[in-house]
Amino acid sequence: MAQNWSPDSWQRHEQRHLPAYADAAALAEAEATLGSFPPLVFAGEARDLTAQLAEVSAGRGFLLQGGDCAESFAEFHPDTIRDTFRVLLQMAVVLTFAGKLPVVKVGRMAGQFAKPRSSDTETQGSVTLPSYFGDNVNGIAFSAEARRNDPQRMIRAYSQAAATLNLLRAFAGGGYANLRQVHQWTLDFMGRSPWADKFRTIADRIGEALDFMQACGVDPGTVPQLKSTAFYTSHEALLLPYEQAMTRRDSLTGDWYDTSAHFLWIGDRTRFVGSAHVEFLRGVDNPIGIKCGPSLEPDALLRLLDTLNPARRPGRITLISRFGHDKVEAGLPRLVRAVSREGHPVVWSCDPMHGNVIKAESGYKTRPFDRILAEVRGFFAVHRAEGTHAGGIHIEMTGQDVTECTGGAIAITDEGLADRYHTHCDPRLNAAQSLELAFLIAEMLKLEAAERPRNAA
Ligand code: PEP
Ligand code: CO
Repeated sequence: MAQNWSPDSWQRHEQRHLPAYADAAALAEAEATLGSFPPLVFAGEARDLTAQLAEVSAGRGFLLQGGDCAESFAEFHPDTIRDTFRVLLQMAVVLTFAGKLPVVKVGRMAGQFAKPRSSDTETQGSVTLPSYFGDNVNGIAFSAEARRNDPQRMIRAYSQAAATLNLLRAFAGGGYANLRQVHQWTLDFMGRSPWADKFRTIADRIGEALDFMQACGVDPGTVPQLKSTAFYTSHEALLLPYEQAMTRRDSLTGDWYDTSAHFLWIGDRTRFVGSAHVEFLRGVDNPIGIKCGPSLEPDALLRLLDTLNPARRPGRITLISRFGHDKVEAGLPRLVRAVSREGHPVVWSCDPMHGNVIKAESGYKTRPFDRILAEVRGFFAVHRAEGTHAGGIHIEMTGQDVTECTGGAIAITDEGLADRYHTHCDPRLNAAQSLELAFLIAEMLKLEAAERPRNAA
């Protein structure tokens, strides 16, 4: 257990990107209410995820993590949850089929509300107001009333997370994820993408394999993995009053867990030395992620690893690099070498979204799909060269047919961005782009698999 740590010890460390609440009594009341609510996840589930990530860190699996940039109260709808879950399942099938590796599925879902912002304020015309910090803090509408930080929003976020998680658990265990459904997972509008055909081919082959296995007596009755899947939740552990209120001692082991999600990560803006966010995550036993951007020096990363994983437990740490398409090949090798040299067991995952944001001529924030692919290619190239396992992908995506990132096989143009630009924060891949990305990664996993014996030698 972490030394000199308590669920509130972060309060004595440097706090960045945390909202100020005008009414301390209202904040305390919301925290007390949250503290009395049931945990959203059970510690044993977090331990299972750690064990699966330990396999990934040893090169025997691949982590697929994706979902909204920011979940919102306005877009809370069962179809939205189902469609994102469905695209993640499709991506997992493509990756499993190509990589011949188990895929660990983690949603940026059921709790991904709070956002760090580059500026504390936003100006429109002659009016300046506080920025929008995510639906669990304030509202997105540009009015003084909406932009007021309201602790009651944490209660609503909890209830939305609980309902979302309930549906995800039902889908994962109740038959929706049955591999026999693999054909049904294709979304209507994906029919227009050439990658939908490729997916159908894989689905046919899986169907044949299932028929064969059934004839041999292997079916969902005897092998439950065929009809259900493990699905985990994650979000950035940014809003520490919420995370603290959700932190409980596990009755089986006595260890602390942040029960708001299975997996929590520290953002690139809050992983600095002396950070309250690092202090908080140091003491909870969930598997955790660290975003690694271009400003992270190898020494600072090693210190973070010593702080967050002193016992060097495999599966505890996932390093999520997010350099940008033009910086990954120059910047990532230094980190990989330092971590390998010190023998820290980590999962290396690639976030090809956050280093590739540009402002389109139309004024929209976007991410060109070819830059996203270029960063993923660079990430795999670095790990191939270093002999380390390219272990995962972390993306902002949705199952909806949005137009937020330019490019892809159903080419979205600058002018087309306005059609269905719905994100509450950063631009997301739509369903067709997500599937296309999965096929690209599948190709690279095949290459890695072909080289595996050599790397292992
Ligand atoms: C995010 O994942 O939404 C995010 C803010 O990322 P980063 O911390 O890498 O900028
Ligand atoms: Co984002």
